[in-house]
Amino acid sequence: MLDPPLPKPPSPLDALRPSLAFRWRTATEFVEATLKAAILDGRLPGGTPLRQEELAARFGLSRMPVREALRQLESQALIDVLPHRGAVVTEISAADAADTYAIRRALEPAALRLSIPRLSDHALRDAAALIDEMDAEQEAGRMGLLNRRFHMTLYAAAGHPRLLALAEQQLIAFDRYLRFHLASQGRAHMAQEDHRAMLEAARARDTGTAIAVLERHLDTAAGTIARFFATRGGVTEAS
Ligand code: NI
Repeated sequence: MLDPPLPKPPSPLDALRPSLAFRWRTATEFVEATLKAAILDGRLPGGTPLRQEELAARFGLSRMPVREALRQLESQALIDVLPHRGAVVTEISAADAADTYAIRRALEPAALRLSIPRLSDHALRDAAALIDEMDAEQEAGRMGLLNRRFHMTLYAAAGHPRLLALAEQQLIAFDRYLRFHLASQGRAHMAQEDHRAMLEAARARDTGTAIAVLERHLDTAAGTIARFFATRGGVTEAS
Protein backbone atom coordinates (compact mmCIF):
# COMPACT_ATOMS: atom_id res chain seq x y z
CA MET A 1 0.00 0.00 0.00
CA LEU A 2 1.27 3.44 -0.86
CA ASP A 3 1.41 6.12 1.78
CA PRO A 4 -0.49 9.28 0.91
CA PRO A 5 1.86 11.89 -0.52
CA LEU A 6 3.38 14.23 2.06
CA PRO A 7 2.47 17.91 1.74
CA LYS A 8 5.21 19.79 -0.10
CA PRO A 9 7.60 21.50 2.35
CA PRO A 10 7.73 25.29 2.01
CA SER A 11 10.51 26.51 -0.28
CA PRO A 12 12.50 29.74 0.11
CA LEU A 13 11.48 30.38 -3.48
CA ASP A 14 7.90 30.93 -2.20
CA ALA A 15 9.19 34.43 -1.38
CA LEU A 16 9.56 35.26 -5.07
CA ARG A 17 7.00 37.74 -6.29
CA PRO A 18 7.42 38.05 -10.02
CA SER A 19 6.76 41.68 -10.85
CA LEU A 20 4.27 41.98 -13.67
CA ALA A 21 4.13 45.77 -13.51
CA PHE A 22 6.84 46.11 -16.11
CA ARG A 23 7.09 44.56 -19.58
CA TRP A 24 10.43 42.76 -19.70
CA ARG A 25 12.15 42.54 -23.06
CA THR A 26 13.35 38.97 -22.59
CA ALA A 27 12.64 36.04 -20.31
CA THR A 28 16.24 36.26 -19.05
CA GLU A 29 15.75 39.90 -17.96
CA PHE A 30 12.51 39.00 -16.21
CA VAL A 31 14.11 36.16 -14.23
CA GLU A 32 17.22 38.23 -13.45
CA ALA A 33 15.22 41.25 -12.22
CA THR A 34 12.88 39.15 -10.08
CA LEU A 35 15.72 37.21 -8.43
CA LYS A 36 17.87 40.33 -8.03
CA ALA A 37 15.10 42.23 -6.23
CA ALA A 38 14.50 39.29 -3.86
CA ILE A 39 18.25 38.89 -3.13
CA LEU A 40 18.89 42.61 -2.55
CA ASP A 41 15.98 43.07 -0.16
CA GLY A 42 16.82 39.88 1.71
CA ARG A 43 13.72 37.80 0.84
CA LEU A 44 16.13 35.22 -0.57
CA PRO A 45 18.75 35.03 2.21
CA GLY A 46 22.41 34.11 1.79
CA GLY A 47 22.95 30.41 1.18
CA THR A 48 19.56 29.80 -0.49
CA PRO A 49 20.09 27.25 -3.26
CA LEU A 50 18.90 28.34 -6.71
CA ARG A 51 18.31 25.24 -8.80
CA GLN A 52 17.77 25.71 -12.49
CA GLU A 53 14.97 23.12 -12.86
CA GLU A 54 13.06 24.46 -9.86
CA LEU A 55 13.34 28.08 -11.05
CA ALA A 56 12.36 27.15 -14.59
CA ALA A 57 9.23 25.42 -13.23
CA ARG A 58 8.37 28.43 -11.00
CA PHE A 59 8.71 30.90 -13.83
CA GLY A 60 7.09 28.59 -16.36
CA LEU A 61 10.14 28.92 -18.61
CA SER A 62 12.75 26.65 -20.16
CA ARG A 63 16.10 26.29 -18.40
CA MET A 64 18.01 28.39 -20.92
CA PRO A 65 16.87 31.88 -19.80
CA VAL A 66 17.19 30.76 -16.16
CA ARG A 67 20.79 29.64 -16.72
CA GLU A 68 21.61 32.95 -18.43
CA ALA A 69 19.97 34.97 -15.63
CA LEU A 70 22.03 33.05 -13.04
CA ARG A 71 25.18 33.81 -15.03
CA GLN A 72 24.31 37.54 -14.95
CA LEU A 73 23.69 37.41 -11.19
CA GLU A 74 27.01 35.61 -10.66
CA SER A 75 28.86 38.40 -12.51
CA GLN A 76 27.27 40.88 -10.07
CA ALA A 77 28.39 38.75 -7.08
CA LEU A 78 24.78 38.27 -6.02
CA ILE A 79 25.12 34.49 -6.27
CA ASP A 80 28.03 32.08 -5.92
CA VAL A 81 28.34 28.94 -8.01
CA LEU A 82 29.82 26.31 -5.69
CA PRO A 83 31.25 22.92 -6.64
CA HIS A 84 28.73 20.10 -5.98
CA ARG A 85 26.12 22.59 -4.73
CA GLY A 86 25.38 24.72 -7.75
CA ALA A 87 24.16 28.32 -7.48
CA VAL A 88 23.45 29.73 -4.02
CA VAL A 89 22.65 33.28 -2.91
CA THR A 90 25.88 35.00 -1.79
CA GLU A 91 26.40 35.04 1.98
CA ILE A 92 26.89 38.59 3.18
CA SER A 93 26.30 40.25 6.51
CA ALA A 94 26.76 43.63 8.15
CA ALA A 95 29.10 42.05 10.72
CA ASP A 96 31.31 40.44 8.06
CA ALA A 97 31.44 43.71 6.08
CA ALA A 98 32.49 45.63 9.21
CA ASP A 99 35.14 42.99 9.95
CA THR A 100 36.56 43.24 6.43
CA TYR A 101 36.72 47.06 6.71
CA ALA A 102 38.46 46.93 10.07
CA ILE A 103 41.20 44.75 8.57
CA ARG A 104 41.49 46.92 5.45
CA ARG A 105 41.72 50.01 7.70
CA ALA A 106 44.64 48.47 9.58
CA LEU A 107 46.58 47.02 6.64
CA GLU A 108 46.18 49.39 3.70
CA PRO A 109 47.44 52.65 5.27
CA ALA A 110 50.51 50.71 6.48
CA ALA A 111 51.15 49.37 2.96
CA LEU A 112 50.61 52.81 1.41
CA ARG A 113 53.04 54.46 3.87
CA LEU A 114 55.79 52.02 2.91
CA SER A 115 55.01 52.16 -0.80
CA ILE A 116 54.72 55.88 -1.62
CA PRO A 117 58.42 56.83 -1.30
CA ARG A 118 59.32 53.95 -3.64
CA LEU A 119 56.52 54.20 -6.23
CA SER A 120 57.84 54.35 -9.79
CA ASP A 121 56.48 56.71 -12.45
CA HIS A 122 55.40 53.59 -14.28
CA ALA A 123 53.25 52.48 -11.33
CA LEU A 124 51.74 55.98 -11.05
CA ARG A 125 50.82 55.87 -14.75
CA ASP A 126 49.26 52.41 -14.27
CA ALA A 127 47.18 53.73 -11.37
CA ALA A 128 46.00 56.70 -13.48
CA ALA A 129 45.04 54.33 -16.31
CA LEU A 130 43.00 52.22 -13.88
CA ILE A 131 41.06 55.29 -12.73
CA ASP A 132 40.20 55.98 -16.40
CA GLU A 133 39.17 52.36 -16.86
CA MET A 134 36.84 52.60 -13.85
CA ASP A 135 35.32 55.79 -15.30
CA ALA A 136 34.55 53.97 -18.54
CA GLU A 137 33.45 50.64 -17.02
CA GLN A 138 29.76 49.90 -17.42
CA GLU A 139 29.69 46.50 -15.80
CA ALA A 140 29.34 46.45 -12.01
CA GLY A 141 30.89 42.99 -12.05
CA ARG A 142 34.27 44.28 -13.29
CA MET A 143 34.39 47.31 -11.01
CA GLY A 144 35.59 45.29 -8.02
CA LEU A 145 38.50 43.91 -10.00
CA LEU A 146 39.55 47.36 -11.26
CA ASN A 147 39.22 48.89 -7.78
CA ARG A 148 41.39 46.11 -6.37
CA ARG A 149 44.04 46.56 -9.05
CA PHE A 150 44.09 50.33 -8.44
CA HIS A 151 44.62 49.94 -4.71
CA MET A 152 47.22 47.18 -5.08
CA THR A 153 49.13 49.24 -7.69
CA LEU A 154 49.55 52.03 -5.11
CA TYR A 155 50.68 49.58 -2.39
CA ALA A 156 52.87 47.33 -4.55
CA ALA A 157 56.18 49.15 -3.93
CA ALA A 158 55.90 48.51 -0.16
CA GLY A 159 58.19 45.53 -0.65
CA HIS A 160 56.56 43.38 2.06
CA PRO A 161 55.08 40.39 0.23
CA ARG A 162 53.17 39.03 3.24
CA LEU A 163 51.62 42.40 4.04
CA LEU A 164 50.63 42.81 0.38
CA ALA A 165 49.18 39.29 0.24
CA LEU A 166 47.04 39.99 3.33
CA ALA A 167 45.90 43.34 1.93
CA GLU A 168 44.93 41.74 -1.37
CA GLN A 169 43.07 38.92 0.39
CA GLN A 170 40.89 41.48 2.21
CA LEU A 171 40.30 43.43 -1.00
CA ILE A 172 39.08 40.18 -2.57
CA ALA A 173 36.82 39.50 0.42
CA PHE A 174 35.49 43.04 0.11
CA ASP A 175 34.69 42.58 -3.61
CA ARG A 176 31.31 41.04 -2.93
CA TYR A 177 30.26 44.02 -0.82
CA LEU A 178 31.37 46.52 -3.41
CA ARG A 179 29.60 44.62 -6.20
CA PHE A 180 26.52 44.06 -4.08
CA HIS A 181 26.45 47.75 -3.34
CA LEU A 182 26.97 48.77 -6.98
CA ALA A 183 24.29 46.30 -8.10
CA SER A 184 21.78 47.96 -5.79
CA GLN A 185 22.87 51.61 -5.96
CA GLY A 186 24.41 52.04 -9.39
CA ARG A 187 27.95 52.76 -10.53
CA ALA A 188 27.86 56.46 -9.59
CA HIS A 189 28.58 55.25 -6.07
CA MET A 190 32.19 54.43 -6.89
CA ALA A 191 34.25 56.98 -4.93
CA GLN A 192 36.45 58.09 -7.82
CA GLU A 193 37.23 61.52 -6.28
CA ASP A 194 39.03 59.70 -3.46
CA HIS A 195 40.96 57.58 -5.95
CA ARG A 196 42.06 60.72 -7.82
CA ALA A 197 43.06 62.54 -4.63
CA MET A 198 45.05 59.53 -3.43
CA LEU A 199 46.92 59.32 -6.72
CA GLU A 200 47.67 63.08 -6.68
CA ALA A 201 49.10 62.84 -3.16
CA ALA A 202 51.15 59.76 -4.12
CA ARG A 203 52.56 61.65 -7.13
CA ALA A 204 53.55 64.53 -4.86
CA ARG A 205 55.06 61.97 -2.41
CA ASP A 206 52.76 63.47 0.21
CA THR A 207 52.35 60.35 2.34
CA GLY A 208 50.33 62.06 5.09
CA THR A 209 47.66 63.36 2.71
CA ALA A 210 47.50 60.06 0.79
CA ILE A 211 46.90 58.14 4.02
CA ALA A 212 44.29 60.63 5.24
CA VAL A 213 42.40 60.26 1.92
CA LEU A 214 42.64 56.47 2.04
CA GLU A 215 41.32 56.36 5.62
CA ARG A 216 38.43 58.64 4.67
CA HIS A 217 37.80 56.48 1.57
CA LEU A 218 37.52 53.34 3.70
CA ASP A 219 35.42 55.00 6.43
CA THR A 220 32.97 56.42 3.89
CA ALA A 221 32.64 53.05 2.16
CA ALA A 222 32.16 51.23 5.49
CA GLY A 223 29.42 53.70 6.43
CA THR A 224 27.70 53.31 3.07
CA ILE A 225 27.66 49.52 3.33
CA ALA A 226 26.39 49.70 6.92
CA ARG A 227 23.53 51.94 5.75
CA PHE A 228 22.84 49.55 2.88
CA PHE A 229 22.27 46.76 5.41
CA ALA A 230 20.22 49.01 7.69
CA THR A 231 17.83 50.03 4.91
CA ARG A 232 17.92 46.77 3.02
CA GLY A 233 14.23 46.03 3.46
CA GLY A 234 13.42 49.20 1.55
CA VAL A 235 14.90 48.24 -1.82
CA THR A 236 12.12 48.44 -4.39
CA GLU A 237 11.42 45.66 -6.84
CA ALA A 238 12.03 47.78 -9.89
CA SER A 239 15.61 48.64 -8.88
NI1 NI B 1 38.66 52.23 -3.72
